[in-house]
Amino acid sequence: MNAHSLTIIDNRTGISYEIPIKYGTYPGYGASINALELRQIKASADDFGLLTYDPGYTNTASCKSSVTFLDGERGTLQYRGYPIEQLAEHSTYLETAYLLQYGELPDAVQLAAWRKDIGLHTFVHENIKKLINSFRHDAHPMGTLVGTVGALSTFYPDAKNIHDESCRQKQVWRLIAKMPTLAAFAYRHSRGLPYVYPDDNLSYVGNFMNMLWKISELKYQPNPVLEKAIDVLFILHADHEQNCSTSAMRAVGSSYTDPFSASSAAIAALYGPQHGGANEAVLRMLNDIGSVDQVPNFIKSVKSGEGGRLMGFGHRVYKSYDPRAKICKKIAYDVFAVTGANPLIDIALELERIALADDYFISRHLYPNVDFYSGLIYQAMGFPVGMFPVLFAIPRTAGWLAQWQECLLDPEQKIARPRQVYCGNQVRDYVPMHKR
Ligand code: ACO
Repeated sequence: MNAHSLTIIDNRTGISYEIPIKYGTYPGYGASINALELRQIKASADDFGLLTYDPGYTNTASCKSSVTFLDGERGTLQYRGYPIEQLAEHSTYLETAYLLQYGELPDAVQLAAWRKDIGLHTFVHENIKKLINSFRHDAHPMGTLVGTVGALSTFYPDAKNIHDESCRQKQVWRLIAKMPTLAAFAYRHSRGLPYVYPDDNLSYVGNFMNMLWKISELKYQPNPVLEKAIDVLFILHADHEQNCSTSAMRAVGSSYTDPFSASSAAIAALYGPQHGGANEAVLRMLNDIGSVDQVPNFIKSVKSGEGGRLMGFGHRVYKSYDPRAKICKKIAYDVFAVTGANPLIDIALELERIALADDYFISRHLYPNVDFYSGLIYQAMGFPVGMFPVLFAIPRTAGWLAQWQECLLDPEQKIARPRQVYCGNQVRDYVPMHKR
């Protein structure tokens, strides 16, 4: 018998099955069986075979991936093998985006070409401005982003050619380049401000800041501390393996739709408060608490269940300190040195101090996640809360695209089509209206 296998005895029939166990890069993480192996397990010859039931895919690997490794127990996050801490310290968002796409860090020539190709695609068709103008003045910028990114598929019908490598490459440049433009235009629209066209002499983030905040100056000069802070936050948010929006990107992309339509679906998934909206909830919570002396009462109410959850704490996969939260906390201080402290930071620090020493949170492995500090930083920079998920969507585009291409090129992948356990009525005859 193969030691790397599972023996299953079906007590309905007494039959024993041997199912091989497969491993990924780290043997202690991601040992799996092929779910289709279970289909041979049948109670009778005409039985469909055994399925696994896994709502929310909490224990189902939907793909093999070599993009991002995440070990929630140990608080480890790596892109293509590089620890997030090292990338945050030494890399830039654009370099990290290259790493995610191609699997290796670029050399100087490759990086210069990548920057140039992205810089060449930052402008959007003038009709996109008209499209944004047609949204209400108070349209949520995430809704505007879902609509405009989806609309790009009509401007670039060539993007449907997803089996052509050079064509896919072009859409990757276009999407990474145009996301800041669309995001900034959505923001300017909500403020009633004229749109600012891209300035490709600035860095990726510097240009984004230019399109957001330029008023009448001839040449916008981004504050280097804020530019660096946004760049690092973009690195932290660039990918997070098979989360909800990435799974949406893969699932929609698996039907061979174009990447603009698939990205629009991914943005829609990120829009939800359980995914991209948690940092907004943290700010609301900190405002509700109001002052540091109210923190013990608030913690008490969370523990009793009356005060809701401690937002920005806990994570579906991280059962220790989210490594991104540590970096965010440091960035917060760099940013506050420029903008002045966000008054809510003292409340946040006190919450963290008390929660990390409290058995309720310790025993449930509840630690700060990336959203605990990111909202404070964005608010201090002057972003309205509606822009928070947009600031998540821009960098995550690099991850979505890397995962989308990986999915398309994986010969084992098929169109996403889960099974169900049917629990409805058995077959019955149609009842005419007069007999109901
Ligand atoms: N505050 C207080 N208690 C919590 C919290 C929290 N933030 N999170 C979990 N718990 C408790 C639950 O009440 C439960 O307690 P019990 O065992 O006594 O019933 C236990 O911890 C386990 O909770 P689950 O909901 O089963 O944990 P799960 O892993 O499914 O939840 C989640 C993860 C949704 C992120 C949760 O921790 C949460 O709601 N956190 C606050 C919202 C938040 O910050 N979300 C952002 C996540 S990061 C991101 O998406 C980018």
